[in-house]
Amino acid sequence: MSHTVYPSLRNKRVVVTGGGSGIGAAIVESFVRQGARVAFLDIADDDSKQLERQLESSSATPPRYYRCDLKSIDAIRETFVRVRADLGGGIDVLVNNAANDDRHTVQEITEKYWDDRIAVNLRHHLFCAQAVVEDMKAAGGGAIINLGSISWHLALPDLAIYQTAKAGIEGLTRSLARDLGTFGIRVNCVVPGGVRTPRQMKLWHTPDEEARMLGLQCIKARVEPHDVANMVVFLSSDDARMCTGHEYFVDAGWR
Ligand SMILES: NC(=O)c1ccc[n+]([C@@H]2O[C@H](COP(=O)([O-])OP(=O)(O)OC[C@H]3O[C@@H](n4cnc5c(N)ncnc54)[C@H](O)[C@@H]3O)[C@@H](O)[C@H]2O)c1
Repeated sequence: MSHTVYPSLRNKRVVVTGGGSGIGAAIVESFVRQGARVAFLDIADDDSKQLERQLESSSATPPRYYRCDLKSIDAIRETFVRVRADLGGGIDVLVNNAANDDRHTVQEITEKYWDDRIAVNLRHHLFCAQAVVEDMKAAGGGAIINLGSISWHLALPDLAIYQTAKAGIEGLTRSLARDLGTFGIRVNCVVPGGVRTPRQMKLWHTPDEEARMLGLQCIKARVEPHDVANMVVFLSSDDARMCTGHEYFVDAGWR
């Protein structure tokens, strides 16, 4: 498959959260292919180190893994200081991708569980953005891409907190786009449909569910991680200079 290369992304300093596996790994790989300098934050050591090794041999600018539990705001702040020092300057592109779609019933939710799920699915989007705003202001602009989800648009079952967080991400995207647009910082949300990632295939995939999804999609094929990554790199590039404050669906037309 051929991939578009955007000259404006060459040598850009890019941070991808949750870049060790799934869609995040495809986003890391796509930015590396653009000639960008990529740092990715995750807690999945094995997957992340494997991705580092895999891309080390095949790319001129291999990405670097940083272990960072995004539920900790202190860890986020410390990690961005290290990344900035290692990459030799401010961050140009931030992709807020990390999340966790654990299922639960309404009655199972405790105060502690609510706080924990919001921390893993929503809170770090704001604090990672906060960590790069001054860099982007100093550079005269930048791009922040948040990963949303089609789930709450469809009101899927047993995902109340995840879907609340994902709805919040769209509100946060529009708010940040408004507040940061005057500094040339664009903020967008990419909304994936049902994407064939290792976690989805392991935990939630069934032939019946796949048939149901394909039946509802306009295009009768599964969305792959690279389909989502393609939208992320486009929105990060200067070719998307007038795109901000919106949601961009990559869902094969799931209705
Ligand atoms: N896969 C889908 O079908 C789908 C659909 C809609 C939206 N999305 C969204 O796309 C994004 C990527 O999804 P995915 O399917 O690749 O997810 P995934 O669960 O496969 O990968 C998420 C990554 O985030 C990391 N992560 C989780 N908690 C973390 C923490 N506390 N600190 C640091 N890293 C952490 C994980 O280790 C993992 O590498 C998410 O925002 C997800 O909500 C995915």
